[in-house]
Amino acid sequence: MGIETDIANDWNAALAALAWQVDLGVAEIIGETPLDRYDLPEPVKLADPVVLPTKAPPPRVATQAPPSAEVALAAATQAAAGASSLEDLREALARFEHCDFKRGARNLVFADGNPKARVLILGEAPGVEEDREGRPFVGRAGQMLDRMFAAIGLSRQSPDPATALYITNVLPWRPPHRDPSPEEIDMMRPFVARHIELVDPDCVVVLGNTSMQAALNTTGILRQRGTWALGFGKPVLPMAHPAYLMRVPEAKRDAWADLLSLQAKLRG
Ligand code: URA
Repeated sequence: MGIETDIANDWNAALAALAWQVDLGVAEIIGETPLDRYDLPEPVKLADPVVLPTKAPPPRVATQAPPSAEVALAAATQAAAGASSLEDLREALARFEHCDFKRGARNLVFADGNPKARVLILGEAPGVEEDREGRPFVGRAGQMLDRMFAAIGLSRQSPDPATALYITNVLPWRPPHRDPSPEEIDMMRPFVARHIELVDPDCVVVLGNTSMQAALNTTGILRQRGTWALGFGKPVLPMAHPAYLMRVPEAKRDAWADLLSLQAKLRG
């Protein structure tokens, strides 16, 4: 065995011995006060029964707090259920503290358009311009949306419910650099459900995956678009998001077919 191996062995043995002492509870080598070891009290003999004072066990405390997603969902459900008008709902959202996006947002983006409209449009979340103005769909995607629905005679400015739109989003705060997670969508769903209940439109158009997930619990917007389904107790039409249509103009043809399907539903 070479000298280097001996040194390594000694070092490992010393480390093991130290670990063993720490395990035993040896926490100090030299105490602060001197100890006369010739004058220590008699050690307790092992044979002697040791009677320990009886002490009530500490009360059991629940060690597992409910996960924060459950707490947030319960808070959202309670807050949304307590809203008996759109104004109440807006205030309940303004008081809601469980959504991280709120901290980075400038404004709460609640809704736009006519609350008596037959058609409610559910978008995903505000972008930079919406966050700045506090109104949904005011940026380029919003202008595209206005043009699309104007083509079938619907507008957010219309005072007539038959030709009006009401527009809101799954998230009322701008997510800075990422899509909302499924848990965040779940958390906001009670607010969206109550929002739709209070407006009570004849049908809902969901734009993009986040809103389809909120309404129908599924994704794959390009597969599902144009197929009516039931969500929040209403007929729901999934459509591609206007931002997608701006990136992929070929998809506008399908979007036009979806708009005609909406028009037929409203006439039928
Ligand atoms: N995209 C959305 O989904 N909603 C908005 O309000 C703006 C852009």
